[in-house]
Amino acid sequence: MTHLPTVPRTTAGPLFADTGLKLGVFGLNVSSAGAVTASPERHEIDWDQNVRVVQMAEAAGFEAAIPFSRWRGFEGSTNPWGESFDPYTWSAALAALTSRITLFATSHCLTVSPVMAAKQIATIDAISGGRIGLNVVAGWFAKELAMFGVETLDHEARYAYSEEWLDIALRLWEGGDDFDHKGEWLTVENGYSRPGPVRLPHPPIMNAAFSPRGHRLAARYADLSFVSAFDAAGAGAKVAEIREVAAGFGREQSVWIAASVVCADTDREAQDLVRRWSEIDADEVAVRNAIDWTMGGAHMPQEQHRQLAGAVASTMAGYPLIGTPERIAEQLAQLSAAGIDGAALTMMNYEAGVPRFIEQVMPVLEREGVRRPLVAGSAP
Ligand SMILES: Cc1cc2nc3c(=O)[nH]c(=O)nc-3n(C[C@H](O)[C@H](O)[C@H](O)COP(=O)(O)O)c2cc1C
Repeated sequence: MTHLPTVPRTTAGPLFADTGLKLGVFGLNVSSAGAVTASPERHEIDWDQNVRVVQMAEAAGFEAAIPFSRWRGFEGSTNPWGESFDPYTWSAALAALTSRITLFATSHCLTVSPVMAAKQIATIDAISGGRIGLNVVAGWFAKELAMFGVETLDHEARYAYSEEWLDIALRLWEGGDDFDHKGEWLTVENGYSRPGPVRLPHPPIMNAAFSPRGHRLAARYADLSFVSAFDAAGAGAKVAEIREVAAGFGREQSVWIAASVVCADTDREAQDLVRRWSEIDADEVAVRNAIDWTMGGAHMPQEQHRQLAGAVASTMAGYPLIGTPERIAEQLAQLSAAGIDGAALTMMNYEAGVPRFIEQVMPVLEREGVRRPLVAGSAP
């Protein structure tokens, strides 16, 4: 009898299973990813270190490893985010070095043809046995996009462009007859891409926009989207909102949050670390650029700019998980209770932070039932 392999579906497997709060290691491929500070302990990238940390996260049960797609940094004295590994080649290599964790690759739609991205994702899907997801970003960093010589589009147009881009990628993965596409932004003649992805109908799509326009794209196309919030109640309200928009498109979504971990033996020590990174070890020029370039800081009242500076220097303004392991687990439990499905974690220093999180925070999450890990060896 012929043995037919099980074909994993888009939202099957550990990343989407009913096992409580999912975890992703986030930004590991970028220097100073989680904290824009000149502290000597800041994250520096190194391939062997990236492999070690992702393998460690996988062994502990993390469901995802999510790189940033970055082309230049925030300048200043330490140029945070200025060194990065390309997410596609990064996840392709890690696909061959891991067996369970879902990897993501990120496309700035304006910089790459969807024909190229669909092919690359299908290839990494083959290498990984159905463990790659596509993170689609509309792009926000004008100085980066200028390096590609692409026409700068306004926010609304960037999302319209990204939707057309996704329509083409999805059609290529469908694998029907060759097709022509002549849209508002993109033209494809005899669109064709084989082999198709391992995951059907397509690998999971992630979109991490926060604006209403971005959330509309996410609701319509993404299997995994993100909200930003200042507290668990705020996160819950935004989860409900994005789910409602998705329901309007007849879709369900996994909703995550980007969070930043600062863990210490006492809450006081964790707060002291935050203060040290943002005051004593400040890279003020880089922090100002990060706020102005990513958050429209040039138009902000001075007081708001000042408050954000502390958050950017210590947590890059991710949802702050600051304190003892128990405090961090408690905050994650609150987010989970509010409807958050997963947390993409950045850290000041991943080599020290990931093992600490695994040893001290994950057991609390599991003991409290916030995470209910799958039996080892569950198929994707
Ligand atoms: C989890 C996560 C991953 C992201 N990855 C990238 C990335 O790799 N490259 C990038 O330019 N922007 C990235 N972003 C930024 C978003 O794509 C988006 O531009 C930003 O959140 C602003 O949202 P808006 O366009 O709706 O205003 C990421 C955001 C989050 C929360």
